[in-house]
Amino acid sequence: MANVKSRIFLGIETSCDDTAVALVDASSRTVLRQCIHQQMEHQAFGGVVPDLASRGHAKHLPKLLNTLLRETGVAKEDIEGIGVTAGPGLAGGLLVGVMFAKGVSISLQKPLWAVNHLQAHSLVPRLCFSQLEFPYLALLFSGGHCEFVIVHSPIEFYLLGYGLDDAAGECLDKIGRRLGFSFPAGAAIEAAAKMGDASAVPLPIPMRDRSLNFSFSGLKSAALRWINESEKVLSFEKKANLCASLQYAIGQSIVKKIDNFFDTLPEHVKLKQAVFCGGVASNQYLRDVLKTCFDRYEVEFLTPPPKYCTDNGAMIAWNASEKCDVGVPPSMNFSIKARWPISV
Ligand code: KG4
Ligand code: ZN
Repeated sequence: MANVKSRIFLGIETSCDDTAVALVDASSRTVLRQCIHQQMEHQAFGGVVPDLASRGHAKHLPKLLNTLLRETGVAKEDIEGIGVTAGPGLAGGLLVGVMFAKGVSISLQKPLWAVNHLQAHSLVPRLCFSQLEFPYLALLFSGGHCEFVIVHSPIEFYLLGYGLDDAAGECLDKIGRRLGFSFPAGAAIEAAAKMGDASAVPLPIPMRDRSLNFSFSGLKSAALRWINESEKVLSFEKKANLCASLQYAIGQSIVKKIDNFFDTLPEHVKLKQAVFCGGVASNQYLRDVLKTCFDRYEVEFLTPPPKYCTDNGAMIAWNASEKCDVGVPPSMNFSIKARWPISV
């Protein structure tokens, strides 16, 4: 068989506190390499400080791109196109990324695509699983978003449900902060939960209504109230129990929405595949709970490896390649959109 020609795309991501770049070969669906700088300076503040984040991106982006090109040995002229996150996210960080990407695009004379961060999270499973076909259901859970979406094509997204207040990741991060875990706290909560008892802390299962929307601020308040009413210094056992109970409540809330979805799905509509994506989808406990749920409906459940669930440049590069393939024209004439819904 003749060698398939590589089609290499560069992705640039600066929407929050991770500065990330990656090179993806779209024809073989391979990530050649990704480089991420995780900004630790936000730790002291317990959350992302926008001004610090944009300064960090400006400082690290040029170095990261050089490292990426040097370590992959990819020549600049071998890059077919570039994707950059234009929103949603923190305005300052987006501006730094977009200005940088426009500069690279001009100097290399390569086409540039503006990428929606949420669409990129929902499409990256296609980079990881060649069998994933449109349309599929995407459950996108990150630090700022909870979305229940049907992905019809690289440019068509139907939003069926969304977060009404705190996202699941935000809820975990805020409770983690109170427990003294480092930011973001999702991974630390998952680790602690492994040693806890999920039935030990009575927390409400959020949003047991018939909608496909999510709400995690009530769960957050209930967990914070439980902490306030407990002794001043919590034992590790109690922290672990709270983390396990929290994960359980989040898992059951998502399962209820999946059940709602299948309850209302007309009989003639057959959904074959579903994906779990966004930073919270790194959580193995939640992956297992959702897998069991989708097994009941005989739907194939696919979740990218954690490094492509949390923010990364590969999903942005992949998104640029998919836009290119469906004929979306590249453009230099776009601005950042701090707010930019997945379905436009
Ligand atoms: O997609 P992402 O990297 O950034 C945003 O677009 O927001 O998601 C970050 C979120 C954070 O809230 C973080 O605590 C959560 O993903 N997260 C996790 C895990 N790893 C990261 N949540 C639960 N379990 C994890 N293992
Ligand atoms: Zn994200």
